[in-house]
Amino acid sequence: MSGVRMIVLDTPEDVGRLAADLFEMEIAARPACVLGLATGSTPLPLYRELVARNKAGRIDFSRVRTFNLDEYEGLAPDHPQSYRRFMQENLFDHINIRPENTRVPDGLAADPEAMFAGYEREIGACGGIDLQLLGIGHDGHIGFNEPGDFFPPCTHDVTLTAQTREANKRFFASLDEVPLRAYTMGVGTVMAARKIVILITGADKADILQRAFFAPVTPQVPASVLQFHHDVTLICDRAAAGR
Ligand code: F6R
Repeated sequence: MSGVRMIVLDTPEDVGRLAADLFEMEIAARPACVLGLATGSTPLPLYRELVARNKAGRIDFSRVRTFNLDEYEGLAPDHPQSYRRFMQENLFDHINIRPENTRVPDGLAADPEAMFAGYEREIGACGGIDLQLLGIGHDGHIGFNEPGDFFPPCTHDVTLTAQTREANKRFFASLDEVPLRAYTMGVGTVMAARKIVILITGADKADILQRAFFAPVTPQVPASVLQFHHDVTLICDRAAAGR
């Protein structure tokens, strides 16, 4: 591993607490910092901790700006399974962040290419992402950047793999309802962040953790590119560190 420091803790809750410490330090150091955020099950203990610390007066989100990694194509912001709704329910509705300072790719964009360019422009206009949060898919995806022949540079649209749709069907009534496509920041967008924190928990992620961080870098395992970033903190639980 290169610029990656790996921290192994006992439980997913411990992972959430340590990640919250890193977010708390970042926001204390730069009250108007720019955060890159992720959805999924893994960051939930972190988000619970951020809400608790905001309510306790320890973290002030009033000047923080956020950009989410991804969104399903075709889902409206208030769709129960949209990532915008996920962020509202699990974080934004419970902290003192200004709604206009939170961005999620628009699943209903009439002109997706213009939306992608606008998303990249806005991130740039904010000075770039200071701290990017990531999870990892079983196939090594980050955001919705699936295994492929190259690392996509910018925000773009993707066809979800059967494995990702299968993994995400737990949030939908049936597999048929899981969208076929999504919008995601590119690997290049993620790699441009000043610092990256990736959270990996559960025995089912042990194999991909090993392939992403202890094997050669390859676009077939998109997260492996993080080995080339100068400031990555990988926080995992014992189960995920099993390999
Ligand atoms: C979601 C995202 C995805 C997830 C990944 C793991 O915004 O970026 O890459 O991080 O699919 O999801 P969980 O945490 O549900 O296992």
